[in-house]
Amino acid sequence: MTDPLSEYEVPSVPAGTTGVAWLRATVVRFSEGETHRRRRALTEDLLAKLDVTPQGRPVDAIAAALGLPADGVDAIAASYQPHLPITADADAAVERLVALCGTRDEVTAAKIALLVQSCATDAFIEHLRAGRLDPPVPVTRRVTPEGERIEVDLTGAPFGRGRHACPGRELAHRFAPSFRELHDGFLLLPNAWDHASAAALVQAGFPAVGTTSLGVAASFGIPDAEGMTRPETVALACRLRHLPCHVSVDVEMGFSSDPAAVGDLVASLGVAGVNLEDGAEDPVERAEFVRAVKERAPDVFLNARIDTHWLHRDEKSTKDRALRYLDAGADGIFVPGLTGIEAFTNAVPAPVNVLHSGELTLDQLWERGVRRVSTGSLLFRTALKAAVDAALAVRGGAPVPPAFGYAETDALSS
Ligand code: HEM
Repeated sequence: MTDPLSEYEVPSVPAGTTGVAWLRATVVRFSEGETHRRRRALTEDLLAKLDVTPQGRPVDAIAAALGLPADGVDAIAASYQPHLPITADADAAVERLVALCGTRDEVTAAKIALLVQSCATDAFIEHLRAGRLDPPVPVTRRVTPEGERIEVDLTGAPFGRGRHACPGRELAHRFAPSFRELHDGFLLLPNAWDHASAAALVQAGFPAVGTTSLGVAASFGIPDAEGMTRPETVALACRLRHLPCHVSVDVEMGFSSDPAAVGDLVASLGVAGVNLEDGAEDPVERAEFVRAVKERAPDVFLNARIDTHWLHRDEKSTKDRALRYLDAGADGIFVPGLTGIEAFTNAVPAPVNVLHSGELTLDQLWERGVRRVSTGSLLFRTALKAAVDAALAVRGGAPVPPAFGYAETDALSS
């Protein structure tokens, strides 16, 4: 399957000596081949050296780090794409920045380009706060080998893909709402089981990923919910915490009967959140685990999972358990299999997390007060089925369902 983002070229731009025309002709964004490789390396080098304090509007913070003013950058951004008309304000703003940089060369163009491209971060943040998954930059453009200019939809690849993929993604993410703030809107949290599945979800635009204990355990041939996957869970957390997203790790019941040890474990993971199960055990004792985690890792979003509901044991105590765990410091409450959702969300003064079941749409869950929906082991089980179906299709000579390309998969590890 052809991937226009990776395989087709960006539209070329004519040479230009001043203003926006010069900028377009001198930046990484509208170049290909050796010129693109050289400018890309220059851009990545500039980004790596940039000491940005992620406060205020991203373009202002990046301009400050570059020692430049951000005035006029919005005007340049509105004229930047080759299909847009160039305004006098945009030309003047480019010339002001060139004069301040002191030279009209590729380094200056790269600095201005960083400012211009970073303007997309405002929309990115707005989408995250609103729980929107449609791409902030909806389309980009490519030229087919036949010379036709086409628009490429960026749904599922909000930061692009291939050699022109956004090099500013990690920087943009530093301005993103915290994991806790994402619960003020509506958070769809897909659950990964290894690095590739998490990286693919991040590539698709999810600002946060969780892990699934079943997926992690089953990947290693270990039974789930038996407290036997501590090394695998810790190793996965260490891999995922470097991704440009928030990570919440399913630590089952904490892999220890000692609350302090569970607290130390959570503090050592370096992730934004954890799920801690109560296993439908004594809520007074389980609250001690919540307390110990919050004492040792106060910044980690602790989602307390109540297991009485889906195990059909002592369902009436679910609300009391929730209030007890919140009192012990929990930040959110997760009730798999929750029924009577609205009454529960009204009674619990914290973000309530449910498992996707397909019975209600995301909009209906939002209307009932749910703030976070996770997919549990669903994606892992879907992937398993897809793999077996593909093998059977090969054996039966049937068409194989669509799959990620080699380069696309390889890029997830970089
Ligand atoms: C710190 C902020 C940002 C900086 C410095 C930045 C920088 C850049 C640069 C220099 C490129 C051109 C790369 C190349 O052509 O090789 C680029 C491409 C791209 N950026 Fe960003 N960017 C930022 C934020 C964003 C945000 C928030 C989004 C949207 C979610 C975004 C979406 C894209 C896309 C889709 C492309 C690829 C366009 C294509 O392939 O045609 N960027 N970015």
